[in-house]
Amino acid sequence: MLLGVNIDHIATLREARKINDPDPLEAIFIAKRAGADQITMHLREDRRHMHDEDILRIAQSSFLPINIESSINPTIIEFLLKIAPHRITLVPENREEVTTEGGLNVVGNFERILQITKSFQEVGTQVSLFIDSEASQIEASKEVGAEMIELHTGSYANLHLMLFSNLPKMKNSIKELELPKKELLGLWEQSLESLKKGAKKANELGLGVAAGHGLNYVNLKPILEIQEIVELNIGQSIIARAIFVGLENAIRELKALLV
Ligand code: PXP
Repeated sequence: MLLGVNIDHIATLREARKINDPDPLEAIFIAKRAGADQITMHLREDRRHMHDEDILRIAQSSFLPINIESSINPTIIEFLLKIAPHRITLVPENREEVTTEGGLNVVGNFERILQITKSFQEVGTQVSLFIDSEASQIEASKEVGAEMIELHTGSYANLHLMLFSNLPKMKNSIKELELPKKELLGLWEQSLESLKKGAKKANELGLGVAAGHGLNYVNLKPILEIQEIVELNIGQSIIARAIFVGLENAIRELKALLV
């Protein structure tokens, strides 16, 4: 199982003071040493964490493949086409959200995604689409010519948190998931089943399958058992753990769980 380390939240910490420290560029050397297989970053429309110059400097300096998450915003796409990273992962984006909520609607934006996919492939960039595990979105991903999909594990992860952690007792409890345990368990099992089904379908269509969002050291195991998933992109939980054990150890610990 390959590990893409999402380093956005190093920049989030920098932006808490709007200065130049910590520098996300430093993370790419540590990540390589710790056994990461890829660096993942998201250039959001509001530049709330990564800035254009971060993306440029990291893309120029990395010895690891770079996977850039991006919305289909024309200005960002134009900028990223010039960088021509190893991979682009198209994601939905809504300014109000705390993090990416829901998968990309490939069916609803078919022509635009088809065109973006072609443009990146012409500059040698692989295209992945971050989608919910739905048959229609998987089929549309194949039809636009993407090489990969990344299955959105956000719902699975949220349900896991509400079932197996103290989150329901905290201020950040996920209100819409304040449900009886039995109901939560049923929903969690359904979300896992849906990820399994989606991974299988995508694999049958010849798409590479990655997964990500909300994955952490304790909710990974059932995802690792889905044979078709070959790569995970993980950010927040690694950076959170890095505060206590250092980035290199946090990545090594995660990587050790992936075998
Ligand atoms: N994959 C994609 C497509 C994402 O948008 C994100 C969040 O930026 C991640 C993976 C990483 O999610 P997390 O930070 O919750 O691990």
